[in-house]
Amino acid sequence: MEKLLTRKDFLVQCGMLGAIAVLSPLVGKAKTLTDKKVKVGVIGCGSVSNMYLPHLSKSPYVEVVSCCDIIPERAKSQAEKYHIPHSYTHIDQQLSGEPFDLLVNLTDMQEHGRLNKQALLAGRHVWSEKPLANTYKEGKELVELAKKKNLRIWGAPAVVNSPQFAFMAKAIQEGKLGKIAAAHAHYGHLGPTWSAFFYERGGGSLPDLGVYNLATLTGLLGPAKSVIAMTSIVTPLRKTDNKGEVKVEAEDNAMVIMEHTNGILSHVQCGFNYFDPYGHEGKGQEKPTITIYGTHGNMHLIGYDWAPAGVDMATWENEKTVRFVTNAENYVWEQGASVVSESLATTQEPLITVEHALHVLEIIEASRTSQSTGRRVKLQSSFHYPLIK
Ligand SMILES: NC(=O)c1ccc[n+]([C@@H]2O[C@H](COP(=O)([O-])OP(=O)(O)OC[C@H]3O[C@@H](n4cnc5c(N)ncnc54)[C@H](O)[C@@H]3O)[C@@H](O)[C@H]2O)c1
Repeated sequence: MEKLLTRKDFLVQCGMLGAIAVLSPLVGKAKTLTDKKVKVGVIGCGSVSNMYLPHLSKSPYVEVVSCCDIIPERAKSQAEKYHIPHSYTHIDQQLSGEPFDLLVNLTDMQEHGRLNKQALLAGRHVWSEKPLANTYKEGKELVELAKKKNLRIWGAPAVVNSPQFAFMAKAIQEGKLGKIAAAHAHYGHLGPTWSAFFYERGGGSLPDLGVYNLATLTGLLGPAKSVIAMTSIVTPLRKTDNKGEVKVEAEDNAMVIMEHTNGILSHVQCGFNYFDPYGHEGKGQEKPTITIYGTHGNMHLIGYDWAPAGVDMATWENEKTVRFVTNAENYVWEQGASVVSESLATTQEPLITVEHALHVLEIIEASRTSQSTGRRVKLQSSFHYPLIK
């Protein structure tokens, strides 16, 4: 197997061509342009690859060199559609085939930890769809392994990159809402139909849907110190395209309360049994899905945090609610792998951090522990906060 460049080698070999100031989800306004492209291998050619591949294909920092799926027709058809020169049906072939720098993992949730580990052991950086791993312990081991091998690993979601997130974070940091007390967030739909893994052990509405709100609320309000939660199964049997009728093993309904610092409490609810007249995307929705209350003001995010449409804010100085940031600019939820590729190419750090993804994974696990034990669960992990000043 050809030896892959380490991050250090790669960055040393990058030709730095000068600085351009453009709107970027990377930290700092100016970014460095490089003539080197990050070679990307995508694993998992299912539903979400139809969103990732067009975005990656358009990035000036990315060359998608291979794709892989255990279903051979999927790997082949995505390779043809997106002009990807190499396609494989097993990760072993992909890792020992055409060399690449970054594995983009878009497989079933239950496969992430194992495949991410294999990629790191083979000297690849990793962008993983959520969750990063199946347990907090496994996620922590991946982060430690990446550090030991001088590699990078990041995990979805990319919600902290939106201009709406930035607006809300700045308003909180500038004290516009006074002392923050409470927040609520919700996200749900009627559940995916195409794959059974969403309902099997290791799946569930918390890592599939709640993960966005958990990342947004901890990103805005700071790391959680403890969690109390209830989860349930509302629809015990589901019809799926790939396995027919399956028994639902993972929660399809969840309520999580987080304790942040300074007495701030926040609440996330998510599930696969939510009728939404605006559909899965929530497009055209005027009602907020995220609400934050403080002593001097309140803020409401219109649309979902992964597809935001504006922020309504009222403060004691301006009691009339005003809508801000109605344009998401270049933010789209499927941008994560392109953003970290740009970061590898330019050395500018993204706002997305693996420590934040790991913290959210611990909250998901703690929520399930709270449900099964009936107790409040203390958290160990944290991340650098505030993300935006
Ligand atoms: N579909 C969406 O709109 C969406 C949006 C955001 C995030 N996600 C996340 O993306 C991930 C994938 O979801 P999806 O909806 O694309 O599922 P999917 O079932 O459509 O696709 C998953 C693909 O991974 C392949 N796969 C599974 N194990 C593999 C392995 N060991 N090696 C190679 N290929 C393997 C499957 O054959 C399948 O083609 C999940 O983590 C999901 O939560 C999906």
